[in-house]
Amino acid sequence: MAEKTQKRRVVAVRRLSQAQLAALSEVAEVDYFEDVNETNRADFLCALSKAHGVIGGKLELDESMLLNAPLLQVVSTISVGYDHLPLDALNKRGILLCNTPDVLTQTTADTAFALIMATQRRLVELANLVRDGAWKAHIGTEHFGVDVYGKTLGIVGAGRIGAAIARRGAMGFDMPILYTAATPKPALEQHLGAQRKELNDLLAQADIVCVCIPYNNDTHHLIDADALARMKPSAALINIARGGVVDEVALIEALRHHSLRAAGLDVFAKEPLPADSPLTSMANVVTTPHIGSATHETREAMSQLAVANLIGALTGEGPLNAVNIDAWKGMTSSIEEA
Ligand code: DGY
Repeated sequence: MAEKTQKRRVVAVRRLSQAQLAALSEVAEVDYFEDVNETNRADFLCALSKAHGVIGGKLELDESMLLNAPLLQVVSTISVGYDHLPLDALNKRGILLCNTPDVLTQTTADTAFALIMATQRRLVELANLVRDGAWKAHIGTEHFGVDVYGKTLGIVGAGRIGAAIARRGAMGFDMPILYTAATPKPALEQHLGAQRKELNDLLAQADIVCVCIPYNNDTHHLIDADALARMKPSAALINIARGGVVDEVALIEALRHHSLRAAGLDVFAKEPLPADSPLTSMANVVTTPHIGSATHETREAMSQLAVANLIGALTGEGPLNAVNIDAWKGMTSSIEEA
């Protein structure tokens, strides 16, 4: 097996430590790119054309690049989300896709809660008031926020991260929890008293709506102008999923006209968020630069898991997290034949 795996080649992009690259080197020849940009794109494509595996954060791989990668068997993304990757094309080619769920659940839930706290209590706006030397007198009602404690929290998409946010809300802040999900979540209902709702009912009843649902064709602009109009004018919208789930133009309109009180956004239709986006300067909006999982500990754990996924796939031991398990079944036979 050692001799067979030595022949394999891997392209690695971003977010990998020396130790992780060394672990990969034990099973494959590794071409590492700190970044892929205009200067080195040709080298990246050349490396990809010889690669059996590719690993990285924010991997840019489209169908035409796959055509240029005839040997490719595994894509290991350092992210839980894979909406940036062409899953249909990978499936068609039988290329295994691995991702990194679980290890980022708690950190991403923390990020959601940071945005909830910041929007309810106007933390950024009021911290900037102090920083700008504009705190001249005791603050009055014009600077008051609204409570977090006891407010109804609506979770759109109660998967792993949504459930972790719900636990924080129910157990830490005594919040009634509403959620949407394709199937009921008995654990959330029994332990937290959470209630499963249709989306429209959740939007109408929640004080804080937290969008945690994966982005795909079905969830594109799920929160559109109609959905926003169903929310209470006193409510806040938090988005830690993907920018495409929310119609950003409709959101800006709702915030401008105060049909929605506030928004806390970690993800955007276009990232990095263009500096001239109205969202960068609205007092009732808190924006963060897609930091859902961005802590030292969690990013390290994600990279580690992505490396383990790739090594497991290339050596035939099996990946820990396969998105398209059918591709893995196809791969095992080709590894055995190699
Ligand atoms: C993920 O893992 O999908 C997070 O959004 C970080 O990119």
